[in-house]
Amino acid sequence: MALTGIMLMGFVLFHMIGNLKMYLGAEDFNHYAEFLRQLLVPIIPPTGVLWILRLGLIGAFALHIQSAYALTRINHKARPVNYKSPRDYVAVNWAARTMRWSGIIVGLFLLWHLADLTWGWANPAFVDGNPYANVVTSLSRAPIAALYILANLALGFHLYHGAWSIFQSLGSMSARFNPRHNPLRRGFAAGFAILVAGVNITFPIAVLTGVVG
Ligand code: HEM
Repeated sequence: MALTGIMLMGFVLFHMIGNLKMYLGAEDFNHYAEFLRQLLVPIIPPTGVLWILRLGLIGAFALHIQSAYALTRINHKARPVNYKSPRDYVAVNWAARTMRWSGIIVGLFLLWHLADLTWGWANPAFVDGNPYANVVTSLSRAPIAALYILANLALGFHLYHGAWSIFQSLGSMSARFNPRHNPLRRGFAAGFAILVAGVNITFPIAVLTGVVG
């Protein structure tokens, strides 16, 4: 869970940084998208490196879901009878449930997002090879912009709990794990989640308000 989580965190961070090119204008944004397709050309054919990265991402995503499923089963097996103490029960279940729901929301959003900006099925004005125009036409529709904002809020919660849990997962395997550093770990988890989700949320707002367009 933790290792695939780290890979997916790397993706959302670099995707967010790449999307910041939107603020530099259509030419820079589209140039960057084209650059990703031309990586290591002519040593490797166009989109070759991109496909290697995509396969890594698909693998990490599939293993992440598989681990979540396995973890849920282990949790249920470990405690087939519910907690007697209502306080403990609510606390433990809340974190787990938030992860499950925010994960499902982000997963469903991703399907929509690919149909919208990669395949173009969900975007009537989709122009192949012009991602800047596609982002602008898509996010100019208020309900779609709202969807992007809500999905990124879910992503923010997911990243916060997830980034924190990485330290628990890796920490429990390490002799150097020290609970005294917990505030630092929480700070990192909160900072990462707020940075990625916060910057992502600026994109629909920028298009809706005409800052980008
Ligand atoms: C407001 C926020 C976002 C914007 C503006 C945005 C924009 C884009 C654009 C323009 C593309 C197409 C790029 C291209 O054709 O070169 C894309 C692809 C993609 N996005 Fe996003 N994205 C956002 C958030 C997210 C989030 C939160 C995730 C993951 C949870 C995500 C995952 C992906 C994936 C997996 C692809 C396909 C990449 C590929 O195969 O080339 N995006 N995004």
